[in-house]
Amino acid sequence: MQPAHPPAIIRLYRVTRRYGVQKALDAVSLEIPANAFVFVTGPSGAGKTTLLKLLYLGLKANEGQVIVDGMNLARMDRHRIPILRRRLGIIFQDYKLIATRSVYENVALVLEAAGTPHRAIAAGVNSVLRTVGMEKRRDALPPSLSGGEQQRVAVARALVGEPRILLADEPTGSLDSVSAGVVMDLITRFHQRGGTVLVATHDQHLIRSVPARVIHLEGGKLVEILPCSDPGPLDR
Ligand SMILES: Nc1ncnc2c1ncn2[C@@H]1O[C@H](COP(=O)(O)OP(=O)(O)OP(=O)(O)O)[C@@H](O)[C@H]1O
Ligand SMILES: [Mg+2]
Repeated sequence: MQPAHPPAIIRLYRVTRRYGVQKALDAVSLEIPANAFVFVTGPSGAGKTTLLKLLYLGLKANEGQVIVDGMNLARMDRHRIPILRRRLGIIFQDYKLIATRSVYENVALVLEAAGTPHRAIAAGVNSVLRTVGMEKRRDALPPSLSGGEQQRVAVARALVGEPRILLADEPTGSLDSVSAGVVMDLITRFHQRGGTVLVATHDQHLIRSVPARVIHLEGGKLVEILPCSDPGPLDR
């Protein structure tokens, strides 16, 4: 018999993360089913970035359980971290592109680290750069690109390894509305191909633009989970 609900691809059970005595996340429990589109929202300092970091083992929880795609992160050996990271695409708020490497090399590094054969790397990188409209700038260095262009390269790098889960921290935070629309379109298409998406943002306009679940944090506590936001009339 099929289960009534798809199994959760991300599960947190009473997760607490402290910085000194301050709790950046306080006993947070939640489940995210595979192929969900989820916004994580809340005011500055609410714990949004901390939550994403716990999912890619940028940080470890002090208490509780974090399970991502069947992997129990509290008990994971260091040498298995690359296995976790290959299942994740991560878009950082400040892009984190390598300034001295070309656009092409920044994206190719992900596949090189995964041991992808040379020819498949070229095909994969060229394809994803076309998708984000950056193929003509493949030899450019990141500092010579606009913020929107750098963010598109960051999206290409997150998607090139065909991850199962995309984690995006304020992916449109520093973009104009046209570039923000391009980036959200790329994220939406990843979701339509079957991917699971978590976007941390405090931009309520962005949240209303996509029908998605909304997880609301305040002061490190989960205050609300809304099943699905209403995108409302499209001409609003
Ligand atoms: N490296 C750190 N050292 C000490 N405290 C930290 C550190 N990183 C985060 N914090 C604190 O933990 C809390 C949660 O921070 P976090 O970055 O997760 O918030 P956020 O919701 O992402 O905020 P923003 O919207 O400003 O990005 C904040 O009070 C912050 O000051
Ligand atoms: Mg943050």
